[in-house]
Amino acid sequence: MPTDLTTIPRSATAYSGVNLRLYDAFVLHFTSPRAWGCSLSDLTEMYRRHGTDDHAEIGVGSGHFVTEQTRHIDWAALSLIDPNPDALRFVSRRVSHPAVREHVGDILDRATLPTRRFKSVAANYVLHCLAPGSDVRRTAVRNLANLTADEGVMFGATVLGAEAEHNRLGRALLRRLNHMGTFGNLGDTERALLGHLSSSFRQVEIERRRTVLLFAASEPIR
Ligand SMILES: C[S@@+](CC[C@H](N)C(=O)[O-])C[C@H]1O[C@@H](n2cnc3c(N)ncnc32)[C@H](O)[C@@H]1O
Repeated sequence: MPTDLTTIPRSATAYSGVNLRLYDAFVLHFTSPRAWGCSLSDLTEMYRRHGTDDHAEIGVGSGHFVTEQTRHIDWAALSLIDPNPDALRFVSRRVSHPAVREHVGDILDRATLPTRRFKSVAANYVLHCLAPGSDVRRTAVRNLANLTADEGVMFGATVLGAEAEHNRLGRALLRRLNHMGTFGNLGDTERALLGHLSSSFRQVEIERRRTVLLFAASEPIR
C-alpha cells in the first residue's frame, strides 16, 4: 500500500520512491562535497570510528552507510528508525540482514521511539531536516541521548545555516530546501548545536568540514 505522506513530518516526506534511488548520487556524491564541503569519506570515517554491532540508525534515507558497514560488521542488532515507512522498507531490503528491525518513529516524539538503548546511535544529516527552531533541536538531541547506552556513543553530521561559509551552490540549495520544508536549518549555528549536545552528553567532540558540523557525544546525562 502506498504511504500516506500527509501523516508523516514534512522533514521526512522527500524520502520515497525515485528520490531514494537517486539519493546516493545526488546527496552523498554531489551535494555533500560540492555544496556543503564534506566528502563521502569524511562521513564514512565517522561510521568506521563510532559504529558498533548494536546500532540504531535514526533517519535512514537510502541506507548507504549501514549497507556499507554490513561488509565489516556482523550486526547483533540494527534498528532502523524513521517516520517514513518507504525509507525503512528500502533500507531494510538493501541491508538484508536478519538483525535488522524497522521502527516507524519520530526523533521529536519520545513515545514513538524504542525503549531500549544502543551502543551506537547515528543521526547523520538528520538535524538539518527538522523543522526550524532551537527547541526542536534540543528535543531531538535529548531523545538521541535517551537512546544511547551509558557506555555508548551518539554521532552524526549536520549542515549549518545561513551564518556558515556557504558557496554559491550551497546558498542557493539552502534557500530552496528551506523554502520546500525539506530542511529547516537556516538558523542553525555551531555554537547553538554544541550547547544542545553539551546539555545532553558529558563528552562532546565536534569537527568542521566547511558548512558541516561532525559530532560524536558520549556519557549521556540522565
Ligand atoms: C537527509 S536524509 C539522511 C539519510 C542518512 N542518514 C544519510 O546520512 O545518508 C534524512 C532522513 O531523516 C529522516 N527524518 C526526517 N525527519 C525525521 C524525524 N523527525 N525523526 C526521524 N527521522 C527523520 C528522513 O525521513 C530521512 O530518512
